[in-house]
Order: sequence, then structure tokens, then C-alpha cells
Amino acid sequence: MKFFLDTASLEEIKEAVSWGAVAGVTTNPTLYARIGGKIQDFEEHINKICTLVKGPVSAEVTAPDAAGMVAQGRELAAIAKNVAVKVPMTLEGLAATRILANEGIEVNMTLVFSVSQAILAARAGARYVSPFVGRFDDIAEDGVVHLVNIIIALGNYDFSNDGPKGERIEVIAASIRNPSHVSQAALAGADIATVPFGVLKKCATHPLTTNGLAAFEADWEKVKQA
Ligand code: E4P
Repeated sequence: MKFFLDTASLEEIKEAVSWGAVAGVTTNPTLYARIGGKIQDFEEHINKICTLVKGPVSAEVTAPDAAGMVAQGRELAAIAKNVAVKVPMTLEGLAATRILANEGIEVNMTLVFSVSQAILAARAGARYVSPFVGRFDDIAEDGVVHLVNIIIALGNYDFSNDGPKGERIEVIAASIRNPSHVSQAALAGADIATVPFGVLKKCATHPLTTNGLAAFEADWEKVKQA
């Protein structure tokens, strides 16, 4: 499983890239608003992210209709070679995805919550599909179960002729809230987990690691004084 970072913060991206595991970035309007982003700076900001990360950087369209999404998608895709256009899972979004995919533009279909939505996204030519896990947990449903179902269903078929470049559609486990979500996404065979900075940090920690290190340090002090 690859890790994407789910953030619009340049500082977080720089730090997480230095840990060696970040293969891409996902942003959305909420994440951009969270860093105080302004509309006129958006494309330049995405460009900056694209210089920090080699892999796909998802930038989301905001138009409600297919024509608007396609226009925005083309503009976003022109920012850098590694932009993936994030399109919401609606009928208008599906129509936009088909057009963008036919032009060779990679689409990350977002706000996906069901098997039927995921199959439609794949048939429309999405390069990535993003099932949201945590938002199910927020409404007292098990988001991992839905993720697993989507992975199984997509694995039943070959969608490579539907996508922009003949590649297999990849599942991005999204709306990840804790390291357990990350582990379960990996066990379920998700291709990618897009993870907030704080959760990625937590993934690297374990109390037994902390305790073990403290013991090594204490014993090394004894060695130095022997
Ligand atoms: C996915 O690409 C989204 O940006 C993200 O994972 C949404 O997560 P949230 O439910 O924490 O907002």
C-alpha cells in the first residue's frame, strides 16, 4: 500500500516527504480553507505541492455541472504533469470524468461511499476511486466494511480499458482517522491510503518501541560509565 498525505499544508508535506513514505498528496476545498488558502492563490499552491511530491497531487473541481468540472479539470491538469483532478461522485461528475479520461487526464473520484458508486466511477474512466472510511464511522457505521466491499467488487473486473492510460484503477482509502484505519486498509488490499499528517505520525509510534528505546538508552549510559 502506498501512502498519500491528505493535506494542503506545505510544511506538513515537506516534513512527511522527509520520512520517505509519501507517494502523493490529496487536497480538497476543506483542507485548502483550513490553511487559510485564497481562491486566487489556489493554482499556484497546487503547483508548489507538485514540486514537493513526485506522485499524484489531487486538486478538486468545485463547479456543480459537468461542463464546469471539465473546464476546471483541464485548467488544473495543466498546472503540472502530476496533477490528478478530483471530481465528486455525482452524475455530472461521472460525465466530466468520462470526458477528462478520454483526454488522458487522471481523475480521482471522491466522496465514494458504495460499491455501485465505485463501479460507476471505474466505468467512467476514473484513475483513482476514493472510498471514505471515517465518515461512515461518524454516523456509527463501519467504514472499513464498505472499503473492503469496494475493493472486492472492483477486483472482480478489469477496468483497464475504461481508464485514461490503460492502467488499473487504484483504490485510495480516504477519510482516514487513525492508525487502525491504515492497518485495516492495508489488510484489505487498498492500493493507497491518504492519511492526515497527525495520523501518519501516529502510525510510526508504538508504546513498545518507546519503552524499548528508553531501555536501550538507559543501558547505554551504564555502558558509557562502566
Ligand atoms: C480524500 O481525498 C479527502 O480529502 C479526505 O480523506 C476526506 O476526509 P475527512 O472525512 O477527514 O474530511
